[in-house]
Amino acid sequence: MGREFLEIFEDWAESYDAFVEGEDPQYQEVFRGYDQILSAIVEKSGNSVIEFGVGTGNLTRKLLEAGKVVFPIEPSPQMCDLAKAKLGSAVQIHDGDLLVFPLPPHEVDTIVSSYVFHHLNDEEKGEAARCYGALLPVGGKVVFADTMFESEAVRQSLIEQAKQAGFADLKADLEREYYPLIPDIARLFEDAGFATEFVQYNDFVWILEAVK
Ligand SMILES: C[S@@+](CC[C@H](N)C(=O)[O-])C[C@H]1O[C@@H](n2cnc3c(N)ncnc32)[C@H](O)[C@@H]1O
Repeated sequence: MGREFLEIFEDWAESYDAFVEGEDPQYQEVFRGYDQILSAIVEKSGNSVIEFGVGTGNLTRKLLEAGKVVFPIEPSPQMCDLAKAKLGSAVQIHDGDLLVFPLPPHEVDTIVSSYVFHHLNDEEKGEAARCYGALLPVGGKVVFADTMFESEAVRQSLIEQAKQAGFADLKADLEREYYPLIPDIARLFEDAGFATEFVQYNDFVWILEAVK
């Protein structure tokens, strides 16, 4: 689940690709290095991938271009339509979310997402880690890129910077959605049987690589 923010994407879908290209100054830092972030996810992925929250299909396209077998999942009909237009009708996008989703008819070695995991609250994130731990084989991976913070002090300082810059939408977003602290995410995945590693890509976005 974690579908409570889906309404935001009804309005955002059409302009989403302009956002990731840095059109809105409020979100320029969040999406700085977007292309490199998606490429890093592809490099860390195995051959058979579930992707959650495909959005307009940017990561899906890169995964497919790299020859991966991808099982794409997206709960927003608006985003799904845009992804279908970009990827072509040969790619089937499945309705589902980070917690409730159909399973592919083959084994999966990697579960990926970009800018999605913060839609789950802490309890749901723990549930998701346990679910992925049960689904993946030993050596399988979760590779998630998203906004997260090293500490509460860093979170508060980035919220304060957004306030000082007059970035009201960014500030409200950081305060509204469930952007986690890295030590909390590490603990949730380690409790579910994963070894975790985090790499920072800009002031907001890190990639979690969790290996079972
Ligand atoms: C910020 S966009 C990211 C899209 C894309 N992954 C990218 O990197 O550009 C977040 C996406 O997650 C989807 N989403 C929202 N809640 C979700 C959930 N609980 N499970 C899976 N996807 C979700 C939204 O519909 C949207 O397509």
